Amino acid sequence: MTADLTESDSFFADIRALLAARRHRVAIRRLKEGAPRGVTRDRLLGLAYVGHRAPTTGLLHLRRALAVAPDDAEVAQALALAHQAANAPFDAVRWFERLARLTPNAPGIAAALAGAYRRDARYRDALALADRAIARGVSDLDTLFERATCLACLGRDDDALAAFHALLAVDPEHAAGWFGSHAQAMHRHGADEALRRLRRATRCGGANGKYWAFICALLLLTGRTAEAEAVAVEQIGDNPKRRPLVDGVRALLPHLAPDHRLFGSSGRLLRHAVAQATTPGLVLEFGVRRGTSLEHIADAAGQEVHGFDSFEGLPEGWVNTPAGVLTTGRQLPDVRPNARLHVGWFDDSLPPFLAAHPGPVRFVNIDSDIYSSARTVLTALADRFRPGSVVVFDEYIGNHSWREDEHRAFQEFVAAHRVAYDCFAVSPFTKQVAFRIRAIGGAA
Ligand SMILES: C[S@@+](CC[C@H](N)C(=O)[O-])C[C@H]1O[C@@H](n2cnc3c(N)ncnc32)[C@H](O)[C@@H]1O
Repeated sequence: MTADLTESDSFFADIRALLAARRHRVAIRRLKEGAPRGVTRDRLLGLAYVGHRAPTTGLLHLRRALAVAPDDAEVAQALALAHQAANAPFDAVRWFERLARLTPNAPGIAAALAGAYRRDARYRDALALADRAIARGVSDLDTLFERATCLACLGRDDDALAAFHALLAVDPEHAAGWFGSHAQAMHRHGADEALRRLRRATRCGGANGKYWAFICALLLLTGRTAEAEAVAVEQIGDNPKRRPLVDGVRALLPHLAPDHRLFGSSGRLLRHAVAQATTPGLVLEFGVRRGTSLEHIADAAGQEVHGFDSFEGLPEGWVNTPAGVLTTGRQLPDVRPNARLHVGWFDDSLPPFLAAHPGPVRFVNIDSDIYSSARTVLTALADRFRPGSVVVFDEYIGNHSWREDEHRAFQEFVAAHRVAYDCFAVSPFTKQVAFRIRAIGGAA
């Protein structure tokens, strides 16, 4: 292979054909064996590794290509996708923004950047971008989907439902559109309508089989046990993608309060849970990130609220995400005037806070994902809980590792402190669960 090989050479044309056919492994082997070192080799190796689900190796090659060709749009795009695949939404945004600057008129660029903002929890930026694109006449399905999803994430439930309807009017077979709309329809039209939409989603071409887990979960939570069991036999079985949500919901059933309510919207569940927390005391959130949930809590609480976060992401890896994921680059969100932020790792920030703030806990939202963070919080607050205190978890059901995460931390806390509790709100779609402490350490 000669060193003056150019991008137009048939060797590289063959490699591109392999990439287009998703034959990434063959492309990698042929590039390593036959391509001279240089920007083209690095660019294509980067693309091939990203496609081969080895984004870290892909990133090495792409960064090398970038050093030589900083304005190469294909490299920027591959870097953006590689960061997205590597679960690094904060860094992915930087690359999608660069790509948008390099190719502002490329088809799909608005939806891609909006999706990157959404994954980085920058819902307002994503929504503004989608709105601007739609105002310019862009109306592809991805942009419509991003708009609806961001409205849902912001808790603008009725607008979100209308936006999902706008998407489904363009493509009535959009499975993710039906799935997203089921959650928003829950509060407005009830669980039966949510179930109808979920069943509709399963009939769309390319539907995600996990929708069956949501159907089974809603049937269990609404007491339609025979129907739920039939779905469990026919559609859930031992399927590792469908089973976790159903198992998690089954673990909740013995604790369901007679007046428990179902939600599909994070903000609505939080506001309801705050309203149910009538024992006076501290209102706390662990895991603030961009401040979306703190906004709901602060608005509903009618008192000072406290948000705790390192703003550096998770302190350790979680499932297939690296430590540091969910960082905001130490940027603090704007919060309501009644919200105070406490920056740092929970083990460092909680002890001095508790020393300065005596008294019980009224409400706590634990949205820090991993077992160790939930355990730190529950252990530190154990003697502040009273009968009537409310604890919301954000990742309690649905994840593959649910038994080892917040569920484990809560069950250990329950056993260690003789806690009696009930579950008065569940949102399978957002994985949230709200518990009311009925008795602790013998006090009822
Ligand atoms: C899922 S995000 C929080 C999302 C937020 N509630 C919202 O509404 O978008 C989890 C956050 O927990 C924080 N976190 C997790 N464990 C932590 C710990 N031990 N100490 C400090 N922050 C932690 C991360 O920095 C991250 O911002």
